[in-house]
Amino acid sequence: MPITTTPLSPALGAEIHGLDVARLDDADRARLRAAFLEDGVLLVKGLADMSPEQQVELSSVFGECAIHPIPTIRLKGHPEIIVLAADVAEGLAEDDPAREEVVGQIPWHSDLTYTDSPSRGSLLLARVVPPELGMTGFIDTAAVYDALPDDLRARIEGRSAVHSLGPIQEALKSAARADDEMEGGDAPTFEQVVHPLVHVHPESGRKVLNVSPAFLQSIEGLAEAESRALIDELVAFATDDRFVYLHQWDEGDLIVWDNWRTMHLATGHKRKHARRMHRTTLAPGRVPGELAA
Ligand code: OGA
Ligand code: MN
Repeated sequence: MPITTTPLSPALGAEIHGLDVARLDDADRARLRAAFLEDGVLLVKGLADMSPEQQVELSSVFGECAIHPIPTIRLKGHPEIIVLAADVAEGLAEDDPAREEVVGQIPWHSDLTYTDSPSRGSLLLARVVPPELGMTGFIDTAAVYDALPDDLRARIEGRSAVHSLGPIQEALKSAARADDEMEGGDAPTFEQVVHPLVHVHPESGRKVLNVSPAFLQSIEGLAEAESRALIDELVAFATDDRFVYLHQWDEGDLIVWDNWRTMHLATGHKRKHARRMHRTTLAPGRVPGELAA
C-alpha cells in the first residue's frame, strides 16, 4: 500500500499513513522526502516497537545521521540517538510539592543554531509519555517569513544575529539529565556564532525567518536596546497562535522536522511523570546561511 498524507494541523505539517518501517522501498523513500520538503513537519503514529536501529535507518531516508555534539545525552551503544528525559520524582515523598513542578521546558528554538552548522532536521520518537503536558510545539518559519509585514521584513533583510547556547545550558541539562541509558561525562562549551536573520532554504528556495529565540542573543549592528526590541517584536510575531501546532504525544509517535524552516518548543511536564524521547539528528550537509540573501 503506498504511503499517503493528510494535513496535521491548520498551521503546518502532515501526518504519514501506511508506513511500514521494516519494508521501505524506493517509492516510499521518495514520497517521504517529498513530504518532508513540502510540509516541514511529519507525524508518523504507531512506532512504539521501532528499534534504535530502525530509527537510524528511517532517519537515513531524510539525510545522514549526525552525532550530537553533546556526548552526555547520547544513547549508549547508539551514538546517533540522543535521549531527552527530564528529572523524575524518584525518591520524592508522595506529598512533596516538587512532584507537581513542571520540568523539561525548552523555549522556542531551531536545533543547534548555537553551532556553525545547524542540523538538517531531526526524528523524535516518544518512548514514554506523561498522561498530561509534555507537548512539543512547532512553527513553520518559512510561513512566518511570508506573513511578515513589509516594514518588519525591510528592517531585518541583510541583517545577522549572534546565537549561543549560554543561558539555556541549564534548561537543557534539566531537560536531559544523564542517567544509565546515556553516555554521561561533561558537556562541552560552545563559542558564540553568527547566522543571517533571514536565510534561503537551499532545497526549496524559500526565505525563512531564522530566529531560534532560545539561542538568539543580539542583532548585529544595532544598539543593545534596539536589538532587544527588534528581537522581541520578531519573536512575538512568529510565535502568534496562528502559526503554532502543539503536539500531544502518544507513545510510539514519531515526528520529523525540517530544522531549516521550523522551530519547536517543549512545554515541559510534571516532575511526578516520566517522559522519555529518542532523537536522531540529521547532518547539515549544506549550511542554509551560505546561500543567504
Ligand atoms: C528536541 C527538542 C522537544 C521535546 O528534541 O530537539 O527540542 O518536546 N525536543 O522533547
Ligand atoms: Mn530541539
